[in-house]
Parts: sequence; structure tokens; C-alpha cells
Amino acid sequence: MGGGALQPSLLGLLLLPRCCCTAAGPAGAVWPQPQAQRSPLGGGRCLVPARRFRFAAANGSAVGPGCAVLDAAFQRYWPLLFGCPRPTSPGDNGDPHCLLLIMAVCPMSCSWLPGVLCVQYYINETEIVDFPRFPHRGLLLDTSRHYLPLRAILETLDVMAYNKFNVFHWHIVDDPSFPYESSTFPELSKQGAFNAMTHVYTASDVRTVIEHARLRGIRVIPEFDTPGHTLSWGPGAPGLLTPCYLGATPSGVYGPINPIVNSTYQFVTSLFQEVSSVFPDFFLHLGGDEVDFTCWKSNPEIRAFMREMGFGEDYKKLESFYIQRLLNIVSSLGKGYIVWQEVFDNDVKLRPDTIIHVWKENGMLYLNEMANVTRAGYQALLSAPWYLNRISYGQDWIEAYKVEPLNFPGSPEQKALVMGGEACMWGEYVDVTNLTPRLWPRAGAVAERLWSNETVGNVEDAYARLAEFRCTLLRRGVQAQPLFIGYCDQEFSGA
Ligand SMILES: *[C@@H]1O[C@H](CO)[C@@H](O)[C@H](O)[C@H]1NC(C)=O
Ligand SMILES: *[C@@H]1O[C@H](CO)[C@@H](O)[C@H](O)[C@H]1NC(C)=O
Ligand SMILES: *[C@@H]1O[C@H](CO)[C@@H](O)[C@H](O)[C@H]1NC(C)=O
Ligand SMILES: *[C@@H]1O[C@H](CO)[C@@H](O)[C@H](O)[C@H]1NC(C)=O
Ligand SMILES: *[C@@H]1O[C@H](CO)[C@@H](O)[C@H](O)[C@H]1NC(C)=O
Repeated sequence: MGGGALQPSLLGLLLLPRCCCTAAGPAGAVWPQPQAQRSPLGGGRCLVPARRFRFAAANGSAVGPGCAVLDAAFQRYWPLLFGCPRPTSPGDNGDPHCLLLIMAVCPMSCSWLPGVLCVQYYINETEIVDFPRFPHRGLLLDTSRHYLPLRAILETLDVMAYNKFNVFHWHIVDDPSFPYESSTFPELSKQGAFNAMTHVYTASDVRTVIEHARLRGIRVIPEFDTPGHTLSWGPGAPGLLTPCYLGATPSGVYGPINPIVNSTYQFVTSLFQEVSSVFPDFFLHLGGDEVDFTCWKSNPEIRAFMREMGFGEDYKKLESFYIQRLLNIVSSLGKGYIVWQEVFDNDVKLRPDTIIHVWKENGMLYLNEMANVTRAGYQALLSAPWYLNRISYGQDWIEAYKVEPLNFPGSPEQKALVMGGEACMWGEYVDVTNLTPRLWPRAGAVAERLWSNETVGNVEDAYARLAEFRCTLLRRGVQAQPLFIGYCDQEFSGA
């Protein structure tokens, strides 16, 4: 967690290159826009060759000197900035202030690394003070509808860090496939993955993702969505799903998790026990969206249970019955939870610290939902306007950029309950071939909205900075798609 707090201001300080700049925008623009950025009047322009550059952790930084997260960040950013490895012996730590004004560029030899070419920069003397507007700045990847190789996830985490995203919402399983290898229930992925050998995340893969994220100040929140969206769980967990009926006989088709048998709750207790220990974050995402009641309605045992419980014909009450038990189980494991908005809409009794994830768009009605959720005293996360898997011709990043998460009627106390939001990349039409260009730089629009001051909203200014940032991404080997007509000095090389 510590890295998350420090990384932002750190990045802010680093991204002011004045040369090797791009033709697309003003050189040295920062994305996302810092909270405060100032070049003192009469301040100089410095030539910064690699040998005079220094990273330093601020005094009083929560992590202290020698912190692994910061050290690792310094190691990563050195080659990103200078195109050469960070020297093991420190360079000349001369006074970083200078009054040079030179417009020249730039590869030169590092004096202590003969033969290695480093970039050097001209930097306007600049002070940046930075902090995020919202604490939860997430990105959802869906690894059930298509399997994403580990490498694609790790690369996405890298680019998330460049954008100051700090939560990876891993929608790891769903109806189509179950790629999570469970140690408690190995049959789930053996029977439920697209391919149990090649299309799975082993325990070691999961640890790799969590550690890669941690070093970049990113929390990993896994989602095990129930009671709907669980078809792929069925083959590996006999008796878990509801048998659907055609008239008086089972049709052979299965519906949501069967909420009326005790074995269901034994199963979810064991599964979430495992998940809680594998994923160290305090929060789990428990889903709870889009439960289709037709199968439950068809099943005579479920109908009998409904009568017995006095639920009448209200299947939302049955769903709530399940969700409430699930939430109690997860609470007893010492975890907090995030749920999709239906859980709130269906009046499930929730712990006061539950986070409600708003995803239904309905035009602008999602803002009413934000108002309703916060009026009830719950924390809210916004995703409804940020389904980046949806694409259209033109500059659709602008729609995402113009969203104002607090633009709903409500008290300051209500606004304070908005934790932030998440960009979502659902996987129906996305796999490793198009993930990166579809995400970047479009998700950057969401990143800036969640990071920068609410007054930062000028689309022309954002265009210029985002176009330049996209060129930076290309230079770093990220296959980010163009915003519009133009070029980068250094185009994507496929490296
Ligand atoms: C750097 O300073 C010059 C001269 O004051 C100015 O024209 C330029 O826009 C500044 N660059 C940035 C990135 O602020
Ligand atoms: C950090 O603390 C040392 C010792 O008190 C001081 O000399 C130095 O100027 C401080 N650095 C910053 C960046 O505040
Ligand atoms: C299911 O559990 C409940 C509560 O623990 C218990 O009262 C009930 O008898 C159990 N039902 C069966 C079929 O085991
Ligand atoms: C918000 O709550 C009001 C009052 O209960 C209700 O009429 C409205 O439909 C809710 N809005 C949404 C988007 O659910
Ligand atoms: C955001 O900007 C406005 C206007 O410049 C300023 O009044 C406000 O304090 C800023 N918010 C934060 C959190 O810095």
C-alpha cells in the first residue's frame, strides 16, 4: 500500500522531458495533470544528463530509506527516462539547479558506462506537489471470456502505474471459463478452464501478479462473482448449481448457484477461505449482478423453499437470502467486500462499510444511483460510463473524460462516500491481440478524471497532453492506439 502513496508525486517529478519530445503536444506535459505544478518566474532551464540525475525519497516518507518499493521504482524509471541502465555507482550529485537554455538533443555517452547511450533532457525548473483526488482508481480486466496470458496482465499493470491507477480489479472467473487454479477445489479449473493446462492461472502466476502490482503501488482485488455468472463452476463442483426444469423434469441445463442447500454454503466458505488468504488485499469483489431467475422459478424444490420462507413470488428475496449468508461468511473471514449495484438495489442488508459498484448506465441515471447509494450511507465506486470495451468511431475517450463522478444531487457527506471508480475492459471481444490498443490511451482519460483536481477538464488541453503521453507510451514499447491524426517522433517499433 505504501508505494501507492509515494509513486504519484515521484512520477510527477520525473516526467518533464524537454527533448526527444513528440510532435503531438507540448513537450513535457504531465499526464495525469498534477494537483499543483509551478515553474518559478525567472526559473531556469536545466540540462539534465543522466550522470547528473538523482532520485531521492522525501524526508519523512512513510516507507523510509531503502524501501524496496521505492528502490524498485527508481530502478525501473531510470532506463525509461534515459534509455540506459541505472549506474551502480552514483553519478555526480551536483546542484540540480542551473540556468542553461539550450534546445539541443541528445544521445551521449554515460561517463561511467562507456559505450552506453543515454538520453539527456532540458527541464524547466519545476515544482510539483501531487496527490490523488480519489483513493480508488481501478481497472477491471476480464480473464474468463478470453484468457489473458500472464505477460499481458503484467504489462497492463506497468501501464496502469504510468497512469497512476492503483487498483487492479481481476474479474478472474465467470460463465465461460474458470482459469483460477484453486488448491482447495482443483476440479474447478480442471473442468472449467478453456484448457486446464494452458489457460489457467497457477498459484505462482497469481503470486507474480500480486507482487508485480505491489511494487507499482497497485492493489489486486479479485472478483468471484456469485450466485449468477457461475456456469463454468458447475462441472468442477457437482451439486453447486441449480438444476433447471422443463415441466416436471430436469432439463439438463443449470442456472445460478443453488441457494437452498447447505452444501452450497460449505463450498463458498471453503473457497473464500482460500481466496482470502491468497489475495492479501482487505477487499474482495463478490459480484452479485445479473442473476437470472428463470431457472430458479422452474425448479420445484426452490419454489417449495420460497413458500416455506414466505418469499411469495419475489425471487429478489431468495437472491438476498443467498447474498446475506455469503456476506456473513466473508465478514467472518475478516475481509471487506465490494458488490455490484444490484445487491443494493435489491435491499440486501449490508454492513455499513460495504462498497457499492455502480455499473448500469441507463443514460445518465447512474448519477441517480450514486445519489441513492450514498444517501443510504454506503461508499460508492463508479464504472457505468467507463466501459472501455465499448468502442465507436471517433474520439470516444472524450466521453469518458467528461464524466464528473460527483455530479449528482447530494450533501458533502454523500460526496465524501465516493471512493473513486474503475475503467472496465470486459472480454467478449477482447483478448491479447487487442487488449493494449483498446485500453491505452483511452483508459488514461479515466485515470486523469480520478486523479486530478475536478477543475481539470479542458478537452483541448487534455488532448495535447494525452497525445504526447501516448507517444511516451510508444517509446516505452506499449502499443497504444492513436487519438487522432498526427505522428510521434518515435513510432511504435514492435519491440
Ligand atoms: C518551459 O519554459 C519555456 C520558456 O519559459 C516555455 O515556453 C515552455 O512552455 C515551458 N515548458 C513546459 C513544459 O512548461
Ligand atoms: C532532509 O533532511 C535533511 C536532514 O535534516 C536535510 O538536510 C535535507 O535538506 C532534507 N531534505 C529535504 C528534501 O527536505
Ligand atoms: C441446513 O442447515 C440448517 C442450519 O444450520 C439446519 O437447520 C438444517 O437442518 C440443514 N439442512 C439439511 C438438509 O441438512
Ligand atoms: C433512486 O431512488 C429513488 C427513490 O427511492 C427511486 O425512485 C429511483 O428509481 C432510484 N434511482 C435509481 C437509478 O435506481
Ligand atoms: C482544486 O482547484 C480549486 C481551484 O483551483 C481549488 O480551490 C481547490 O482547493 C483544489 N482542490 C484541491 C484538493 O487541491
